[in-house]
Amino acid sequence: MLEDIISLCKRRGFVYPTSEIYGGLVSSYDYGPLGAELLRNIRNLWWDEFISGRDDMLGLDSQIILHPQTWVASGHVGSFADPLVEDLVNHKRYRADHLLEASGKDHVEDMSLAEIAAYLKEKNLKSPDGNPLSEPKAFNLLFETAIGSVAGDKGKVYLRGETAQGIFSNFKQVLDSTRNKLPFGIGQIGKSFRNEITTGQFVFRTLEFEQAEIEYFFDPENSNWQDLFDAWKKDMFAFVTSTLGVKEENLRWRRHTDAERSFYSQDTYDLDYHFPFGWKELWGIAYRGDYDLQQHQKFSGEKLEYTDPYTGKKLVPHVIEPALGVNRAFLMVLTDALYEDKEHQRLVLKLNPKLAPYKIAVFPLLKNKEALVGKAREVYGLLKSNWPTTWDDRGNIGKRYLYQDEIGTPFCVTIDFDSLEEGSVTVRDRDTTKQDRVKIEALVDYFKDMLG
Ligand code: GAP
Repeated sequence: MLEDIISLCKRRGFVYPTSEIYGGLVSSYDYGPLGAELLRNIRNLWWDEFISGRDDMLGLDSQIILHPQTWVASGHVGSFADPLVEDLVNHKRYRADHLLEASGKDHVEDMSLAEIAAYLKEKNLKSPDGNPLSEPKAFNLLFETAIGSVAGDKGKVYLRGETAQGIFSNFKQVLDSTRNKLPFGIGQIGKSFRNEITTGQFVFRTLEFEQAEIEYFFDPENSNWQDLFDAWKKDMFAFVTSTLGVKEENLRWRRHTDAERSFYSQDTYDLDYHFPFGWKELWGIAYRGDYDLQQHQKFSGEKLEYTDPYTGKKLVPHVIEPALGVNRAFLMVLTDALYEDKEHQRLVLKLNPKLAPYKIAVFPLLKNKEALVGKAREVYGLLKSNWPTTWDDRGNIGKRYLYQDEIGTPFCVTIDFDSLEEGSVTVRDRDTTKQDRVKIEALVDYFKDMLG
């Protein structure tokens, strides 16, 4: 299944391996013309629903490179690490916890580095190539770089490991410039970077990826955290099922165990999707208390307090954090939509029309008949000014349908000789393959009904 998705993505221009002309780069992918559109649709739907669509939310766009103290305060410099082991013969590196899981060990997420080391020894686990393994060591995931205008060690900075910290470090400025009242949230979408050891999971786990994160600030004495947490879980689930159109049976909530959860978090859940390689995290939600703002207060020396406008009470707000991986949402919607229609011998991406890169494809029946092409261009112009629409005059109509089905275009419109006589066109539905005859003057209303 994963192979089918990877192959479709490459063949049709959704995802390409990065720097393929140089032999590729590990865990790195570029998004082609259709992938860029699909990603943009996911981002826009998230932003419309969670930022512009709500009165209690604000947007932000912070830098990728933040002051390096940010990452000391957040704990990333000290403890944002995975357990790494190395094959002692060929020097390939692996996540030790993933090797334990593959050997059938349960609850690996609760194990310390020392416990992992003891287990590896006790079971005499070998690398996937059958060679002995090194002792596990903590491998920090932050990518380091340096600012040219600052000499020496002082120039050392990090590519952000999550978008969340840009929200915390801007909390006071957002508060002062917007005078928002609690409870309210700040959200942003952007690139994050992690020096991941695990390879071979396509866009699920990459070195560079996009997050859509929210920090929802509240006063724990005025708002019940459990109610807010449950409301956010409901909104996340509704976004995936109603807005993105993903099947409920492919989703589940997984609560983090006490050992797995960060020490400052009272509760954490993952919304898992049934990816081609098993149930895996799509979207996390954590109640983080006031840990992050307190840490930034301590390390920056700046007060990060909210003053209640009615009572004058000062407090460091608590926070609930829903954190989505945009690229995982991308892989999820493709996995969920890909369908092999044996009856019609075709591969169909049954994408929710809101996600489809093109909503409509327009075909002239024949490409060398001037009158047909002229009429088709007219219809194309009419539709393109309303919806993302593509033109296709290659091969025969059957081949064009197969192509559009594979890229998830919900409707195809064909202009034939009757169109010239009667002013009507054939509209073919991707999912049912049924065809309707629609007057050209009624086409825009027809698609308004179908696509909104
Ligand atoms: N601020 C909290 C945070 O960053 P996380 O669970 O580490 O939490 C949030 O990341 C989401 O980002 C994950 O649920 C996942 O969807 C996505 N994500 C994390 N690492 C990723 C990677 N290497 N590649 C692609 N997506 C990733």
